[in-house]
Amino acid sequence: MARRCLSIILAAGEGTRMRSALPKILHKIGGLPLVGHVLGAMPAAAGDAIALIVAPEAEAVRIEAQKLAPKARFFTQRQRLGTAHAVLAAEKLLGESYDDVVIAYGDTPLLRPQHIEKARHKLAKGADIVVSGFYTDKPQGYGRLVEAGGRLVKIVEEKEASAQEKKIKLCNGGFMAVKGALIAALLRAVGKDNSKGEYYLTDIIAPAVARGLDVEVLELAAEDIVGVNNQAGLAAAEALWQQRKRQEIMAGGVSLQAPETVYFAYDTDIAANVFIEPYVFFGPGVRIAAGAHIRAFSHIEGAIIGKGARIGPYARLRPGSRLADNVAIGNFCEIKQADIAEGVKINHLSYMGDVAIGAGSNIGAGTISCNYDGYNKEKLTIGAGAFIGSNSALVAPLAIGRGAYIASGSVITRNVDDEALAFGRARQVTKPEGGKRLRALFALKKQRKSR
Ligand code: UD1
Ligand code: MG
Repeated sequence: MARRCLSIILAAGEGTRMRSALPKILHKIGGLPLVGHVLGAMPAAAGDAIALIVAPEAEAVRIEAQKLAPKARFFTQRQRLGTAHAVLAAEKLLGESYDDVVIAYGDTPLLRPQHIEKARHKLAKGADIVVSGFYTDKPQGYGRLVEAGGRLVKIVEEKEASAQEKKIKLCNGGFMAVKGALIAALLRAVGKDNSKGEYYLTDIIAPAVARGLDVEVLELAAEDIVGVNNQAGLAAAEALWQQRKRQEIMAGGVSLQAPETVYFAYDTDIAANVFIEPYVFFGPGVRIAAGAHIRAFSHIEGAIIGKGARIGPYARLRPGSRLADNVAIGNFCEIKQADIAEGVKINHLSYMGDVAIGAGSNIGAGTISCNYDGYNKEKLTIGAGAFIGSNSALVAPLAIGRGAYIASGSVITRNVDDEALAFGRARQVTKPEGGKRLRALFALKKQRKSR
């Protein structure tokens, strides 16, 4: 029978080192809160459970985490007395005979599911505790894994480490997997006789080793385990995560002309044979079908892009943009809440918000949907095969019919029937020789002034 796993994610810390009004684990990388990344790495088979340990005042954390993991159970750590104390907030669950208990920190967003699986595999093979470790040249701030004779004997926190121990480059990655039958007793035995006066989770190791338990280290690459403790650490984790995502995207058959300049979100979903030019940013909620071409400097979020679409350069697609196959969105166009049917072209300098545009329509340069009157958002519909002349202002609510033709420079405020031609501008006046006369007049004025 499959082993049942309880995952406990610690998220009750203050995150003071972030110096931010936002709780640490709600800071995002790839558009997803740190805790969301950790949740995503945890085992979620039937029979598994996830517990989140939160601070009493952190309502925002609770609300956000509930969205990310509706099945997670929440436990409040009333006082911040350290990581071992935090785990004990979920003590009730520790008695429920899970085979494996995985403890992770909410601030280690680069954890991968396969590493948790590896640690659990070691438990299944007989290990009692598996500690994640990584080598780094910058071990400052991490607990150090102290080994003797090639075996882990204890973890010492930076603050407690001797000068000799501080030189150790093998650090505690933070996540641990422990046999369910052992964890509660190990935690209860932890004291707080240290410089911070806290119950350290890491202090379960030395007594376990002394008892002869099988304590093993799972060595991981630093880029899979770094913790986020301050803003610089957040940026470093983002950079690592982006690198990983770019590799994943390219492995899926997407061409990135300059991968290091393209930023993805956690859920960016791009089909094979899409070509992406340099400097493109993806916010959450983007899906792109095969054969699309995304040109440089485009900013895209919450958008669905059909096959063979051409986007940018310098395009902005905002949430609710749904582009069918072969749509073209050109430079300096902004699109929002828009259903755009096959083959539509919006090539230059437009804003289209709260619109539905029928297949094959051409939206001329500088066309603006005037969708907001300061109070309400109104909707614009444009039928298939319509032609909207350049520099038109389409004042919603408005319906423009199929095959309609709007003259350039129009302000259109009333509905236009199918196949109709609409002008909404002053008529042109041309005066023969008028330009010549005007110049003569201006020259005369200037002469008089200079006298
Ligand atoms: C911790 C480890 C350290 C390890 C590092 C890896 C301990 C004592 N130290 O240090 O060995 O190298 O992570 O990133 O475990 N938290 C609570 N309640 C508390 C205290 C902390 O829920 O009372 C949570 C925090 O929200 C955070 C996690 O536990 O998600 C770790 O706390 P943090 O203060 O970041 O510990 P580190 O100093 O990074
Ligand atoms: Mg930390």
